[in-house]
Amino acid sequence: MFKLSDFTLEEKFKLLTGKNVWEVDTSGKAPKFEMHDGPNGCKCFEDNANWQSRIIPTHCYPALSVISNSWNEEAAFLDGEGIAMDCVDNDTQMLLAPGVNIKRSLACGRNFEYFSEDPYLAGKMSKKFIEGVQSKGVGACIKHFALNNSEYDRLNVSANADERTMHDIYLRNFRIAMEAKPWAVMCSYNRVNGVFASENKDLLDNKLRKEMNYDGVIMSDWCAVFNRAKSLKATLDLQMPYEEHAYAQLKKAYEDGFITMEEIDASCQRILDMIKKWVDAAPLRTAPLTHDERYERCVRLAEEGMILLKNDGILPLKKVDNLAVLGLFAKLPAYSGGGSARVFSKYPPKPLYDELKKVYPETNIMFEGIFHEDEAGNVNNNLAKVNKAQRVAYAADAVIFTVGTGEIEESEARDRFTIKLRPQFVSVVNAVAKYNKNIILVVEASSAVDLSEVEDAASAILFTGFAGDGMNEAIANIISGKVNPSGKTTETFPYSIEDCYVTPDLENYYYDDYTDGVFIGYRHFDKCDIPVRYEFGYGLSYSEFKYSNLEIKKSGDDYIVSYDVENVSDVDGKEVSEVYIKDVFSLLPRPEKELAGFSKDFIKAGEKKRVSVKIEKSSLEYYLPPIKDYYLESGDFEVYVGGSSKDLPLKGKFTVEMPHYTQFTVNSEVDIDTF
Ligand code: GLC
Repeated sequence: MFKLSDFTLEEKFKLLTGKNVWEVDTSGKAPKFEMHDGPNGCKCFEDNANWQSRIIPTHCYPALSVISNSWNEEAAFLDGEGIAMDCVDNDTQMLLAPGVNIKRSLACGRNFEYFSEDPYLAGKMSKKFIEGVQSKGVGACIKHFALNNSEYDRLNVSANADERTMHDIYLRNFRIAMEAKPWAVMCSYNRVNGVFASENKDLLDNKLRKEMNYDGVIMSDWCAVFNRAKSLKATLDLQMPYEEHAYAQLKKAYEDGFITMEEIDASCQRILDMIKKWVDAAPLRTAPLTHDERYERCVRLAEEGMILLKNDGILPLKKVDNLAVLGLFAKLPAYSGGGSARVFSKYPPKPLYDELKKVYPETNIMFEGIFHEDEAGNVNNNLAKVNKAQRVAYAADAVIFTVGTGEIEESEARDRFTIKLRPQFVSVVNAVAKYNKNIILVVEASSAVDLSEVEDAASAILFTGFAGDGMNEAIANIISGKVNPSGKTTETFPYSIEDCYVTPDLENYYYDDYTDGVFIGYRHFDKCDIPVRYEFGYGLSYSEFKYSNLEIKKSGDDYIVSYDVENVSDVDGKEVSEVYIKDVFSLLPRPEKELAGFSKDFIKAGEKKRVSVKIEKSSLEYYLPPIKDYYLESGDFEVYVGGSSKDLPLKGKFTVEMPHYTQFTVNSEVDIDTF
């Protein structure tokens, strides 16, 4: 087997600085190690040395935001496992995924690639995704470490956050996901508290390696290293892609004694250990699904992650004689977001109207795209087309209208300046609504959108996400009732982006001060008592679920919360039940409630299921800067259980009793009259 002593000093420098765009440079002394994006597909290129070479089409799985919206940990595992099979087929040793950055800004262009505004949910789902990828003997590379929560000017912005905010929110999801032992961690482009992540020793060596007990490879985001010697000192092992200046920088720094052979060998060894993981995992790379089976998995995962936001009873849509299918996305669905995660599918979704024909074979389906896309992906309509759409709608019993964002709005390297739907869509939806009240709005976006201008015109709203190859089959199955929708939001949908703490404000982006602290997402809206359009954890079903019989039991340092969920409808369905906690008194202000557990369960019509969820000690603790560690405080914790963060019918509480000597004095213990 290959070993470090086989490498000359020059070959060690090459090992640390990449061979080309996608490969490690092993100088032929260790097996090839190639890596590719991304979160929803294995994106290979014809020439690993050429950024611009042809991208080889492959399966496009749902975006991770869709997987997260499923609240189904098994779905995250199956998603990662499926993509890993494509990696094996393409002799790719590591997948550059999952991206797990917290959705702090609703307008962040990469939110479609990420899991949630909540670090617990993001951590649990990304952990399962990593386990899925690595279960097939392929490495996962979790990214982007850390505080890469916006895209605008990402190579310059300094994300500045205090220690508690970092530990309790922005690093917490990584800490949970690291339990899956990803083969690598990718650092982010941005600066963190002033210093680029790629050369930030506190971030990489202290917070990742030491605090999270991580001894694997840390690699750069592409072209995120500006000072290779400084980054080596920060324990960044692998710079990608190959850049000529890196080799010279290392050589000079070594000759001048700034970096030591010990530091060089430590990083090289971690890279060789990563390659050895590939070699050792060979027995796992067996029994791949066929391409048809992978497509089927894409459909199932898309179905799991779509969210029914509104339904006045029109869905599931009964058999109708005439059905209008409107909007360009019905023909060209937004099945993938833009940027490095963009997958060009070998098995792209069939048009929505064809998938609908399968479930409504007797129905006359009339399609009118209305819009046309220009070369930049902008959609434009013309009055004749709008009038045609009105006539088609007038002749139909119901209308399925597809709108959305697409990669023109949701992409890497840019943020949205608004979360409203494009005005073209708003005007035409309302124009069509004058001729048909039965509008089913299909929203093909993968981050929160402001639907206030079309909400009233719609009888139902299905939020699909960028749901990959199986997207249109999944939409047709949900609309027809063949599948009961079960997705729930993993980010808050506000009435207006102005209600958020973070709004697209490009003036002062050089310093992005995280002054909202731990109060992001629903934590912010709760703290400021701001009403929202669709709360965190919200989603409708064709079933109806009732909660009862809450029990809380201590189990070691954790607590087990058990409750009954009953399906009181006549339709089998899956329910996501959510468990939140509130630390009643604490030395530092804590959110009104924090997600601490969830479960997704299939419950047949009329059945009742007993569900148990573990509240881990780590969910009860919070980071206390004076001790530079997590702190569990004695006192009462309230527990809330229900179907969304605003619908929590079950309430209970438990009391944490820690030895007095472990606790810091609280004001009420101090008798100020004695002073
Ligand atoms: C990109 C992205 C990162 C991706 C890498 C390779 O800029 O930030 O997520 O894996 O470069 O494409």
